[in-house]
Amino acid sequence: MPTPGRSPLIVRVDLRNVTAAQLEKSANLLRRGGLVAFPTETVYGLGAAALNPDAVARVFAAKGRPARNPLIVHVAETNDARRLASEWPATAQALADAFWPGPLTLVVRKAAIVPDAVTAGGATVAVRVPGHPVAQALLRATGQPVAAPSANRSGAVSPTSAEHVLASLADQIDALLDSGPTPGGIESTVVDVTQTPARLLRPGLVTPRQIRAVLGELTIAARDDSDAPRSPGQIGRHYAPAARLEIAPDDGAARVAALAAVGLRVGWLRGSGIPERAAPAGAVCVTMPADATGYAARLYAALHELDAAGVAAIVAAGLPEDENWLAIRDRLERAARAD
Ligand code: TXA
Ligand code: MG
Repeated sequence: MPTPGRSPLIVRVDLRNVTAAQLEKSANLLRRGGLVAFPTETVYGLGAAALNPDAVARVFAAKGRPARNPLIVHVAETNDARRLASEWPATAQALADAFWPGPLTLVVRKAAIVPDAVTAGGATVAVRVPGHPVAQALLRATGQPVAAPSANRSGAVSPTSAEHVLASLADQIDALLDSGPTPGGIESTVVDVTQTPARLLRPGLVTPRQIRAVLGELTIAARDDSDAPRSPGQIGRHYAPAARLEIAPDDGAARVAALAAVGLRVGWLRGSGIPERAAPAGAVCVTMPADATGYAARLYAALHELDAAGVAAIVAAGLPEDENWLAIRDRLERAARAD
């Protein structure tokens, strides 16, 4: 396993009634080295037994992920995370107390039991305690740490629904737990606590303001560090739809009209409050929520929809400059990079 060409076991899990029995087969598959896609509060993850290098190698193969990009290890509670670390700084404990279970990932010095395959040979490991009830139940049923990147082909848009996972990885996975759309919509915040002050490697659902409220100080890494900790700058375009994406300096209406006028099928991620008549003929419009939380929850699904609609270009209306929008601007700016 996995057997390419075979369809995965699909288990529909009702969020109001998550039972251990529903997750037993998936937990067994993980323990035997298989690949199980599962929902978290951010995006769907592609899970494998983190302490099993063969299972971890399958994750990299399934995603087409560069071996130098390390994985996040998911555990059910803070004590399990501490066992994966050789040092557990006070900053790690403070952030764990404040945000776990939840959409925050901590980079700490790794313990000897963590295989090089997970950390891309590095001395640190990224750990996270997800809060999603299905992720929690799966981790408890498995009884082992689970490495899980987002369940998409490397470089593509992360999946926020089971359908997105199947569209890109159906023939690569052994099982899929389907509990509908993930609530957060973009990936966890990644913070390196091996240094002082702690350093933000990837903006996410937990904002810098929230982290500073706990730690006092936080430095913000240059963009490419989060994707290639040991070789910054090598991964540019990321989180990208198939269509070319650009961010407009304004509401995007003029740019959409210009692209439509030259015969392109164009998608428009527009702000709310723009009257329906502002959309030029032939443009596929998605009206995005006005608040950052709502926008994040909707963003990847909107990009998947526009790709499915076959647009050649996507224009996103400009976003507010404030920090609540940092992670969203980060994902859109990455998706817009041409390299
Ligand atoms: O929300 C999430 O974090 C989702 C769900 C499934 O938990 N997972 C996720 O994994 O987004 P992935 O592999 O798509 O992104 C992991 C990020 C990458 O930017 C990676 O470079 C960084 O975390 N990372 C992992 N281990 C690291 C380490 N030891 N040091 C620095 N960055 C690391
Ligand atoms: Mg990813």
